Amino acid sequence: MTIHIGAKPEDIADTVLMPGDPYRARWAAETFLDGAVCVNEVRGMLGFTGTWNGHRVTIQGSGMGMPSLSIYANELIRDYGATTLIRIGSCGAMQETVKVRDVILAMTASTVSTPSSGMFRELNFAPAADWSLLAAAAMASAAKGVTTHVGGIYSSDTFYDERPDLNEQMTRHGVLAVEMETAELYILAARYNVRALSVLTVSDHLLTHEALPSEDRERSFGDMVEIALRAAFA
Ligand code: HPA
Repeated sequence: MTIHIGAKPEDIADTVLMPGDPYRARWAAETFLDGAVCVNEVRGMLGFTGTWNGHRVTIQGSGMGMPSLSIYANELIRDYGATTLIRIGSCGAMQETVKVRDVILAMTASTVSTPSSGMFRELNFAPAADWSLLAAAAMASAAKGVTTHVGGIYSSDTFYDERPDLNEQMTRHGVLAVEMETAELYILAARYNVRALSVLTVSDHLLTHEALPSEDRERSFGDMVEIALRAAFA
């Protein structure tokens, strides 16, 4: 048991999928895992452990934004010994070539700041995905027939953004999409020598202002869970 996770040490699997939304964690566990049991309810940030094709998996909500994800990822890695962490979430597209419903595999994540910025000080650390997970996810995504983009994303601290100039620079420099968690996940994975990847569905488009209809969100989320599970155990 940690400050934010009520699970017993043996309740958490080595492989953890992390959606932002705790209700999504429950849906994914009920839909994809065998024998899923709820292992965390602290602050309503639900976590479940079960098996997928015989492999033990935990699906734990991360909350929104890097400070929240950082708390759960730190405790999962340092206290529970998680060695593979895969974020499954949504993002806003920043390129014309990227469409709503497409999947993005985040190779790296630019940021203005992360919870680790105070530690890095002048160092502009480059957070990067685990290559084995990234390669396996690209194969799994292609096998599902989902349009997939692999490249850089932007982990922002704000959803309601007041820096259109910064977004323009991101677009100009080929950044595929914006979300709010990945940079810190990759930094923690590097710090503790574990594997991490973000698998993202484009839920909205910053250039066209198109948005994924709510009836499509569940299917897209399900695709991400499958891609993440196949990548984890490839
Ligand atoms: N901004 C930040 N995070 C997001 C967005 C966005 O437009 N869409 C989905 N996650």
